[in-house]
Amino acid sequence: MQNSIDPRIQKLRELRAQSLVAGGEERIQAQHAKGKLTARERIELLLDAGSFREIDAFVTNQTSGIRMSDQRWLTDGVVTGWGTIDGRLVYVYSQDFTIMGGSLGAAHAAKIVKLQDMALKNGAPLIGINDSGGARIQEGLASLVGYSEIFLRNTLASGVIPQISAIMGPCAGGAVYSPALTDFIFMVKNTSYMFLTGPDVVKAVTHEDVTFEQLGGALVHNTTSGVAHFAAESEGDCLYLIRMLLSYLPSNNMEEPPFVKTKDDPLRTDSALDSIVPDNPNKPYDMREVITRIVDDGRFLEVQEHYATNIIIGFARLGGHAVGIVANQPAVLAGVLDINASEKAARFVRFCDCFNIPIITFEDVPGFLPGVAQEHGGIIRSGAKLLYAYCEATVPKICVITRKAYGGAYCVLSPRATRGDLVLAWPSAELAVMGADGAVSIIYRRELANAEDPAAKKAELVRQYQEEVTSPFVAAQRGFIDDIIEPHETRPRLINALQMLRNKRDTNPPKKHGNIPL
Ligand code: HXC
Repeated sequence: MQNSIDPRIQKLRELRAQSLVAGGEERIQAQHAKGKLTARERIELLLDAGSFREIDAFVTNQTSGIRMSDQRWLTDGVVTGWGTIDGRLVYVYSQDFTIMGGSLGAAHAAKIVKLQDMALKNGAPLIGINDSGGARIQEGLASLVGYSEIFLRNTLASGVIPQISAIMGPCAGGAVYSPALTDFIFMVKNTSYMFLTGPDVVKAVTHEDVTFEQLGGALVHNTTSGVAHFAAESEGDCLYLIRMLLSYLPSNNMEEPPFVKTKDDPLRTDSALDSIVPDNPNKPYDMREVITRIVDDGRFLEVQEHYATNIIIGFARLGGHAVGIVANQPAVLAGVLDINASEKAARFVRFCDCFNIPIITFEDVPGFLPGVAQEHGGIIRSGAKLLYAYCEATVPKICVITRKAYGGAYCVLSPRATRGDLVLAWPSAELAVMGADGAVSIIYRRELANAEDPAAKKAELVRQYQEEVTSPFVAAQRGFIDDIIEPHETRPRLINALQMLRNKRDTNPPKKHGNIPL
């Protein structure tokens, strides 16, 4: 007797197959011709092989609005489900541009909302891959309601599960606010863009001529606006970077970040660090080199590496444990804190604090950037954000002062007095209200004016000021810093400090939430 397939199973198979062909071969080819992968190809690259489990493949839009009854596409333009990355559960949605341009209608939104609820309830990261023409024009207000429901969940999930957005095509209009509410935005050079209003509207309103790329491409948002955190060379590169980022993060705020075994000796010293800081305090050096010489295997995943480059932020491991690193970069603007650097670091510090990631600060900061533009731009408010973020953070906070720790910037960057757990200084550290040169010019103005040889007198007074005021030994005598260490021993000292702080418990007073100076 011949085996006949149950017609219900046959139907299931047919519909399943239909759901996989998305908007059809022609549109898939058009997608590929633009240098873009399809929604499903992206998921395949992102997740561990064969781990994806899709839900809601049979969803179609149920609206009867204009030109919608002939648009009942399976999936309704977004593929949703879960899988694993390095064996750990993640939820993912991937908008399908081949179906109505990945536009978001009621059913499409409901699928994303369902996934957001599952990710939040089950405590696993949510990754959204965006490739969409925005609100589905035919569905009108229902689309906007859908977006609003997504925004609400983005906000409620903030600080509970990591939320990651990959922009892999258009992301326009109010649609940008879902990625903007998430923790990290990845963009792909030349094929992705984000803006509130496109080039045509810009032209009509402000008469500016601008291309999609110039207005909201990956480079713009990674260098100028600071909206995005990573600029990938290709979609494959982007998806790989997301996997890398997740390797440093816990699945939710109740977990610790994953431990990754390393062959890098926790007691390893590095003598090159002893001479990395130039004798001349006005000479720059590359703080990135300091970081990579200290962390496990020299691996440092820098976040926002093209934006506000006078401060460096990113993830690394020490003795196998993930840490967040904030470091002034003396090679750019002398490592000064300005509006953009303060905001960049503040958001990062808060992210680390949400997700139990200890913060290591490498400090070499001459102060806040002076100037009318900075004052009028609100540097007071921006600096306060960073100060607030550090003060509020209860994760282990360790600071290494490599050179300058001057003025208000010293107060901001995790000193003991703002609940810093450990402050270590290199012998090259200078801690004071301001640098010796400026200080001497102010407090010895009269003596210098009357001196026979003002230059020689100044040099002598500067030396004296350095010995009596800015020297780390003076700060150590008063217990303002905990120890002065030799630069080559920084790695073992940090790993030891992290072990010492492993069971740290600290809380803030009960409150609904604080009022960070936004
Ligand atoms: C319905 C849409 C659509 C949309 C694109 N499509 N955008 N369908 N609603 N918003 C459809 C097209 O009709 C077309 O269908 C297919 O998707 C591909 O679109 P193309 O225009 O052929 O592609 P391309 O040339 O690559 O241009 C992509 C695009 C353009 C730049 C995104 O489609 C575009 O400008 N779309 C409109 C964008 C927009 O104004 N959206 C609303 C923003 S306001 P066929 O059947 O031909 O394949 C918004 C508010 C959100 O989003 C508010 C939240 C608070």
